[in-house]
Amino acid sequence: MITAKNITKIYGAGKTACTALNDVSLTIGNTDIIAITGQSGSGKSTLINVLSTLDTPTDGTVIYNKKDITRLSENQRAEFRLKNFSFVFQDFYLVSTLNVHENIILPVQYKEKGYDKELFEKIVTECGIKDKLLNYPHELSGGEQQRVAICRALLIKPKVIFADEPTGNLDSFNSGKVFELLISYAKSNSCCLIYVTHEEKYALLADRRIIVSDGKCEEITVNEK
Ligand SMILES: Nc1ncnc2c1ncn2[C@@H]1O[C@H](COP(=O)(O)OP(=O)(O)O)[C@@H](O)[C@H]1O
Ligand SMILES: [Mg+2]
Repeated sequence: MITAKNITKIYGAGKTACTALNDVSLTIGNTDIIAITGQSGSGKSTLINVLSTLDTPTDGTVIYNKKDITRLSENQRAEFRLKNFSFVFQDFYLVSTLNVHENIILPVQYKEKGYDKELFEKIVTECGIKDKLLNYPHELSGGEQQRVAICRALLIKPKVIFADEPTGNLDSFNSGKVFELLISYAKSNSCCLIYVTHEEKYALLADRRIIVSDGKCEEITVNEK
């Protein structure tokens, strides 16, 4: 469903040019759960950003369900993402002046038919933040803030979730919880999940593992579960 063909991403030009991705091709299925690992600076975030249209490649094409999504305009990409993709980042990117409830519904509040209230209830319950809906981000722990960000990501009913080091700022208890939530949602909703992690134990939870090294991707075989 996502096919990346010969993706190259070069930042800058001339002497300062940096090749972050070097002729990468990948095929990602509708329900794949993929862990991306690799050293710092190897190109993991660039890969996620290019696959998800947050960034455009210097060369190559990203196809999503037969549609070339690399050459859409900025506005078309934003619209496309809102319909199909969700994001969870290391920094939670909550809006500090909005409460938890308002943060979660922010991307879907202008939908014609309104947002799915039943799904909202289900997600906030599963993420354990039902009691925090009227609180503001600064009143929450890091783990809670990331769970709010996850609720916001899930409420759009994404077909693909991109998570770039979602537990980079969390302790091990909360990290475990975040991966448990993301993976169980992806499995029970037949959604694709692509995440970056430094930690082997979380990488092992995926069905596929892609290692990025110097802008090249290599898939390693993980044990069939
Ligand atoms: N906006 C940018 N401008 C210039 N160089 C960048 C930019 N973003 C990333 N890079 C460079 O591209 C390479 C890959 O970065 P990144 O994808 O962020 O790696 P990772 O996520 O694996 O740590 C690094 O060498 C980094 O310095
Ligand atoms: Mg990164």
